[in-house]
Amino acid sequence: MATEKTFYLETFGCQMNAHDSEKVIGTLRQQGYRQVENEEDAGLILYNTCSIRDKAEQKVFNRLNDYKKLHKAGKRFGVLGCVAQQEGEKIFERAPYVSLVSGSASYRKLPEMLTRLEAGERRITGLDDRQTEETFETEFTARQSPYRGYITIIEGCDKFCSYCVVPYTRGKERSRSSSSVLAEARSIADQGYTEIQLLGQNVNSYRDPEGKSSFAELLAAVGQVRGIRRVRFTTSHPRDFTRDIVEAIDAIPTLCDHVHLPVQSGSSRVLKQMAREYTRDWYLERISWIKAARRIISLSTDIIVGFPGETDDDFIQTMDLLAEVQYDCVFGFKYSGRPNTPALTMIDSVPEEEKARRLQVLLERQREVQRINYAKHLGEILDVMVEGVNPARGQISGRSSQNKPVNFTSAHPIAPAPGTYQQVKITGSFPNSLVGEAV
Ligand code: SAH
Ligand code: SF4
Ligand code: F3S
Repeated sequence: MATEKTFYLETFGCQMNAHDSEKVIGTLRQQGYRQVENEEDAGLILYNTCSIRDKAEQKVFNRLNDYKKLHKAGKRFGVLGCVAQQEGEKIFERAPYVSLVSGSASYRKLPEMLTRLEAGERRITGLDDRQTEETFETEFTARQSPYRGYITIIEGCDKFCSYCVVPYTRGKERSRSSSSVLAEARSIADQGYTEIQLLGQNVNSYRDPEGKSSFAELLAAVGQVRGIRRVRFTTSHPRDFTRDIVEAIDAIPTLCDHVHLPVQSGSSRVLKQMAREYTRDWYLERISWIKAARRIISLSTDIIVGFPGETDDDFIQTMDLLAEVQYDCVFGFKYSGRPNTPALTMIDSVPEEEKARRLQVLLERQREVQRINYAKHLGEILDVMVEGVNPARGQISGRSSQNKPVNFTSAHPIAPAPGTYQQVKITGSFPNSLVGEAV
């Protein structure tokens, strides 16, 4: 009798990884596997890993070690994602009970790799790196959210910022055709999705292989798919940020009034060391286009503090930039040296305590900016997409078009369903969320 094929999958890292996992789950199901909730119940244990910061590799090995005993019970292990691509066959040396190692640029070969695994083969690798031009498209995506549909439009990265592993872990930049993206958008709209999030490490570096649409045109076209009420896109790179993106947001109400535009540093000197390919002024010019839009567009960013050689003055320039732009959200990180990257050969000159201090100063100042920004919504009526309901506290949570979390109550006896939209009057604000009542 054939035993049932089961798998457990845990995902780390960014939205691209989360969405890859949706595609991996869909592929496994298509191959006859059933997903289970814990390692003990699974025949195949998979980790979809991230290696962006800190000792990410070590964490994966620790995790594998914790569950090593399950190998004796006949379970198999697979490592997917960025650590898989980065460490490659070294994973088999350090964790001999792993039988599958695959980076995201090889997922299109998963069905074949799974067949080999089932046939008893060990040490199966999918380590296509920067050679491949192909993207991973599947009709079997197992979307985890019933209302927010992720769609990858561009994979990989060609930017090679000096601190970053992504160009080594996700391969060459390659875009999907606009017709394939639109077909997926229509198909998920038909399934009832109203929010689409277009994904790419540099989503706006998109280049249609069919030559039909620019990024802004694709964005506009997705925004006009029947049934779609919200379109988000992440992450934009300042180098490729063009004015027509702002024009599209102004013209098409379904395009959310939010742009995430990572700056990394406010010092042109550091930006040069980071190989970001823009200066402070270049960045601020793009911000001025966004601020000149007819709609008020919310801004968010990523910052790295303590990059090799970052001086007090460089850091002050970053703080000045934050004060000037007045972001609604900032993700701040302490620089961490990553394998294979050019920055690793620079002297990591800022001591750990100083990195921590700069990060703390940054987050505290930013909190004050957000306290003021969020309070500006008091009295407004916002369109909120419901994400969750806490019946115990009578609280409903959701997000505004600007991506701000909104917690609200409703006088209606029946709580609204996740994925529906509510008009909410804003009655209170915090540095990271708004409070209100359904109207
Ligand atoms: N492609 C996007 C971001 C990718 S990674 C972009 O270019 O903006 C997400 C964030 O992680 C980056 O924006 C950066 O702020 C941070 N990051 C990447 N590598 C890092 C490193 N080695 N140390 C600390 N933070 C890092
Ligand atoms: Fe990394 Fe830079 Fe590519 Fe972003 S653009 S993924 S930071 S190399
Ligand atoms: Fe991490 Fe890879 Fe994403 S390193 S942040 S999972 S691209």
